Amino acid sequence: MDNTSQILERSAELFAGQRLLLVNPPVDGLTRQLPADWHVWTWDYFVQQGLSGSLDEEHLRFSHLCPAVTELDAAILMMPKAIERAEFALAQIVPLLRAGCPLYLVGEKKGGISRAEKLLAAHGTAIEKLDSARHCQLWRCVVQEGAKPFQLADWQRSVQLAFPDQTVELVSLPGVFSHGRLDEGSQLLLEELAPLPAGRVLDFGCGAGVLATVLARRNPDSRFDLVDVDALALYCAEQTLRANGVEGQVYPSDGLSDVHGRFAGVVSNPPFHTGIRHDTSIAEEFFNKVTRNLLPGGELRIVANGFLKYPPLIEDHIGPCTVLRETSRFKVYSAVAPG
Ligand SMILES: C[S@@+](CC[C@H](N)C(=O)[O-])C[C@H]1O[C@@H](n2cnc3c(N)ncnc32)[C@H](O)[C@@H]1O
Repeated sequence: MDNTSQILERSAELFAGQRLLLVNPPVDGLTRQLPADWHVWTWDYFVQQGLSGSLDEEHLRFSHLCPAVTELDAAILMMPKAIERAEFALAQIVPLLRAGCPLYLVGEKKGGISRAEKLLAAHGTAIEKLDSARHCQLWRCVVQEGAKPFQLADWQRSVQLAFPDQTVELVSLPGVFSHGRLDEGSQLLLEELAPLPAGRVLDFGCGAGVLATVLARRNPDSRFDLVDVDALALYCAEQTLRANGVEGQVYPSDGLSDVHGRFAGVVSNPPFHTGIRHDTSIAEEFFNKVTRNLLPGGELRIVANGFLKYPPLIEDHIGPCTVLRETSRFKVYSAVAPG
């Protein structure tokens, strides 16, 4: 069981018999056996898939928006990696709680729980650290009267990105990759002007949708599918496509779990973080499986930090890997599936 879940389990008497909202939990022994009156909000499709067998649709919500659960006795936020996302979540959770209800925050020390006091101070009083064990802490505050109603527009940011051939409006939310700006690696990938193959193209780990938006305009014969594990990213990708008049299919996928069929091209700035840790396992699994989704002669085009040892993995699974562009920090690789 996750350390944060263990600390919650130790404090089970605090939550007994309560109608509770649990936000951003992991999938583990605790969350697979939640009391009937608990509701879960997650923005992680992996968690949604992992808990969908144990919770019905009414009790499990995968979305960028918190479900409007009524008559709550308390809420628990399991600290997300990005502090802005914790603020975004709290702004949605607090208006659901009546004055006097407890709000709990739990998380790992290296995951930013040390900021709990400051985060909770914006929403309540009687802030208290209740427990500390296994490098985790459990905090509580009591919610006050008069929480400001949540407005998504207050959190959504729109920026104009200028490319030599076009200007794009990028819509993003807190905690979405490269919120409000263009990542240096993605920029390098977009500097490459070689056309993409006509037909279906997959944008894997689409974030706010910048790659598919720019590339779809440059490649009018390509049709884009955009996938991401993060509900906030998916919402932003839809908004970015719409703001730029680009059509595309946007849907959740954990890795390639929900990607079906074969594509003429796959583009990506693949993730190499999971939760708190640096981790290339998602990208490795992606290279391993993506051949099944590439047409013969289909192109994989990715950008990555130069220090990541991706070329041998790409060559093992797809084919000869060429460097299309590079800077001191990033490389754009291309490989063509055997045809
Ligand atoms: C480096 S960002 C790139 C975002 C966007 N393509 C861009 O260029 O700005 C990687 C993206 O992969 C997503 N991601 C992380 N783990 C994933 C997984 N298991 N399956 C699908 N997407 C994942 C993240 O949410 C993030 O949006």
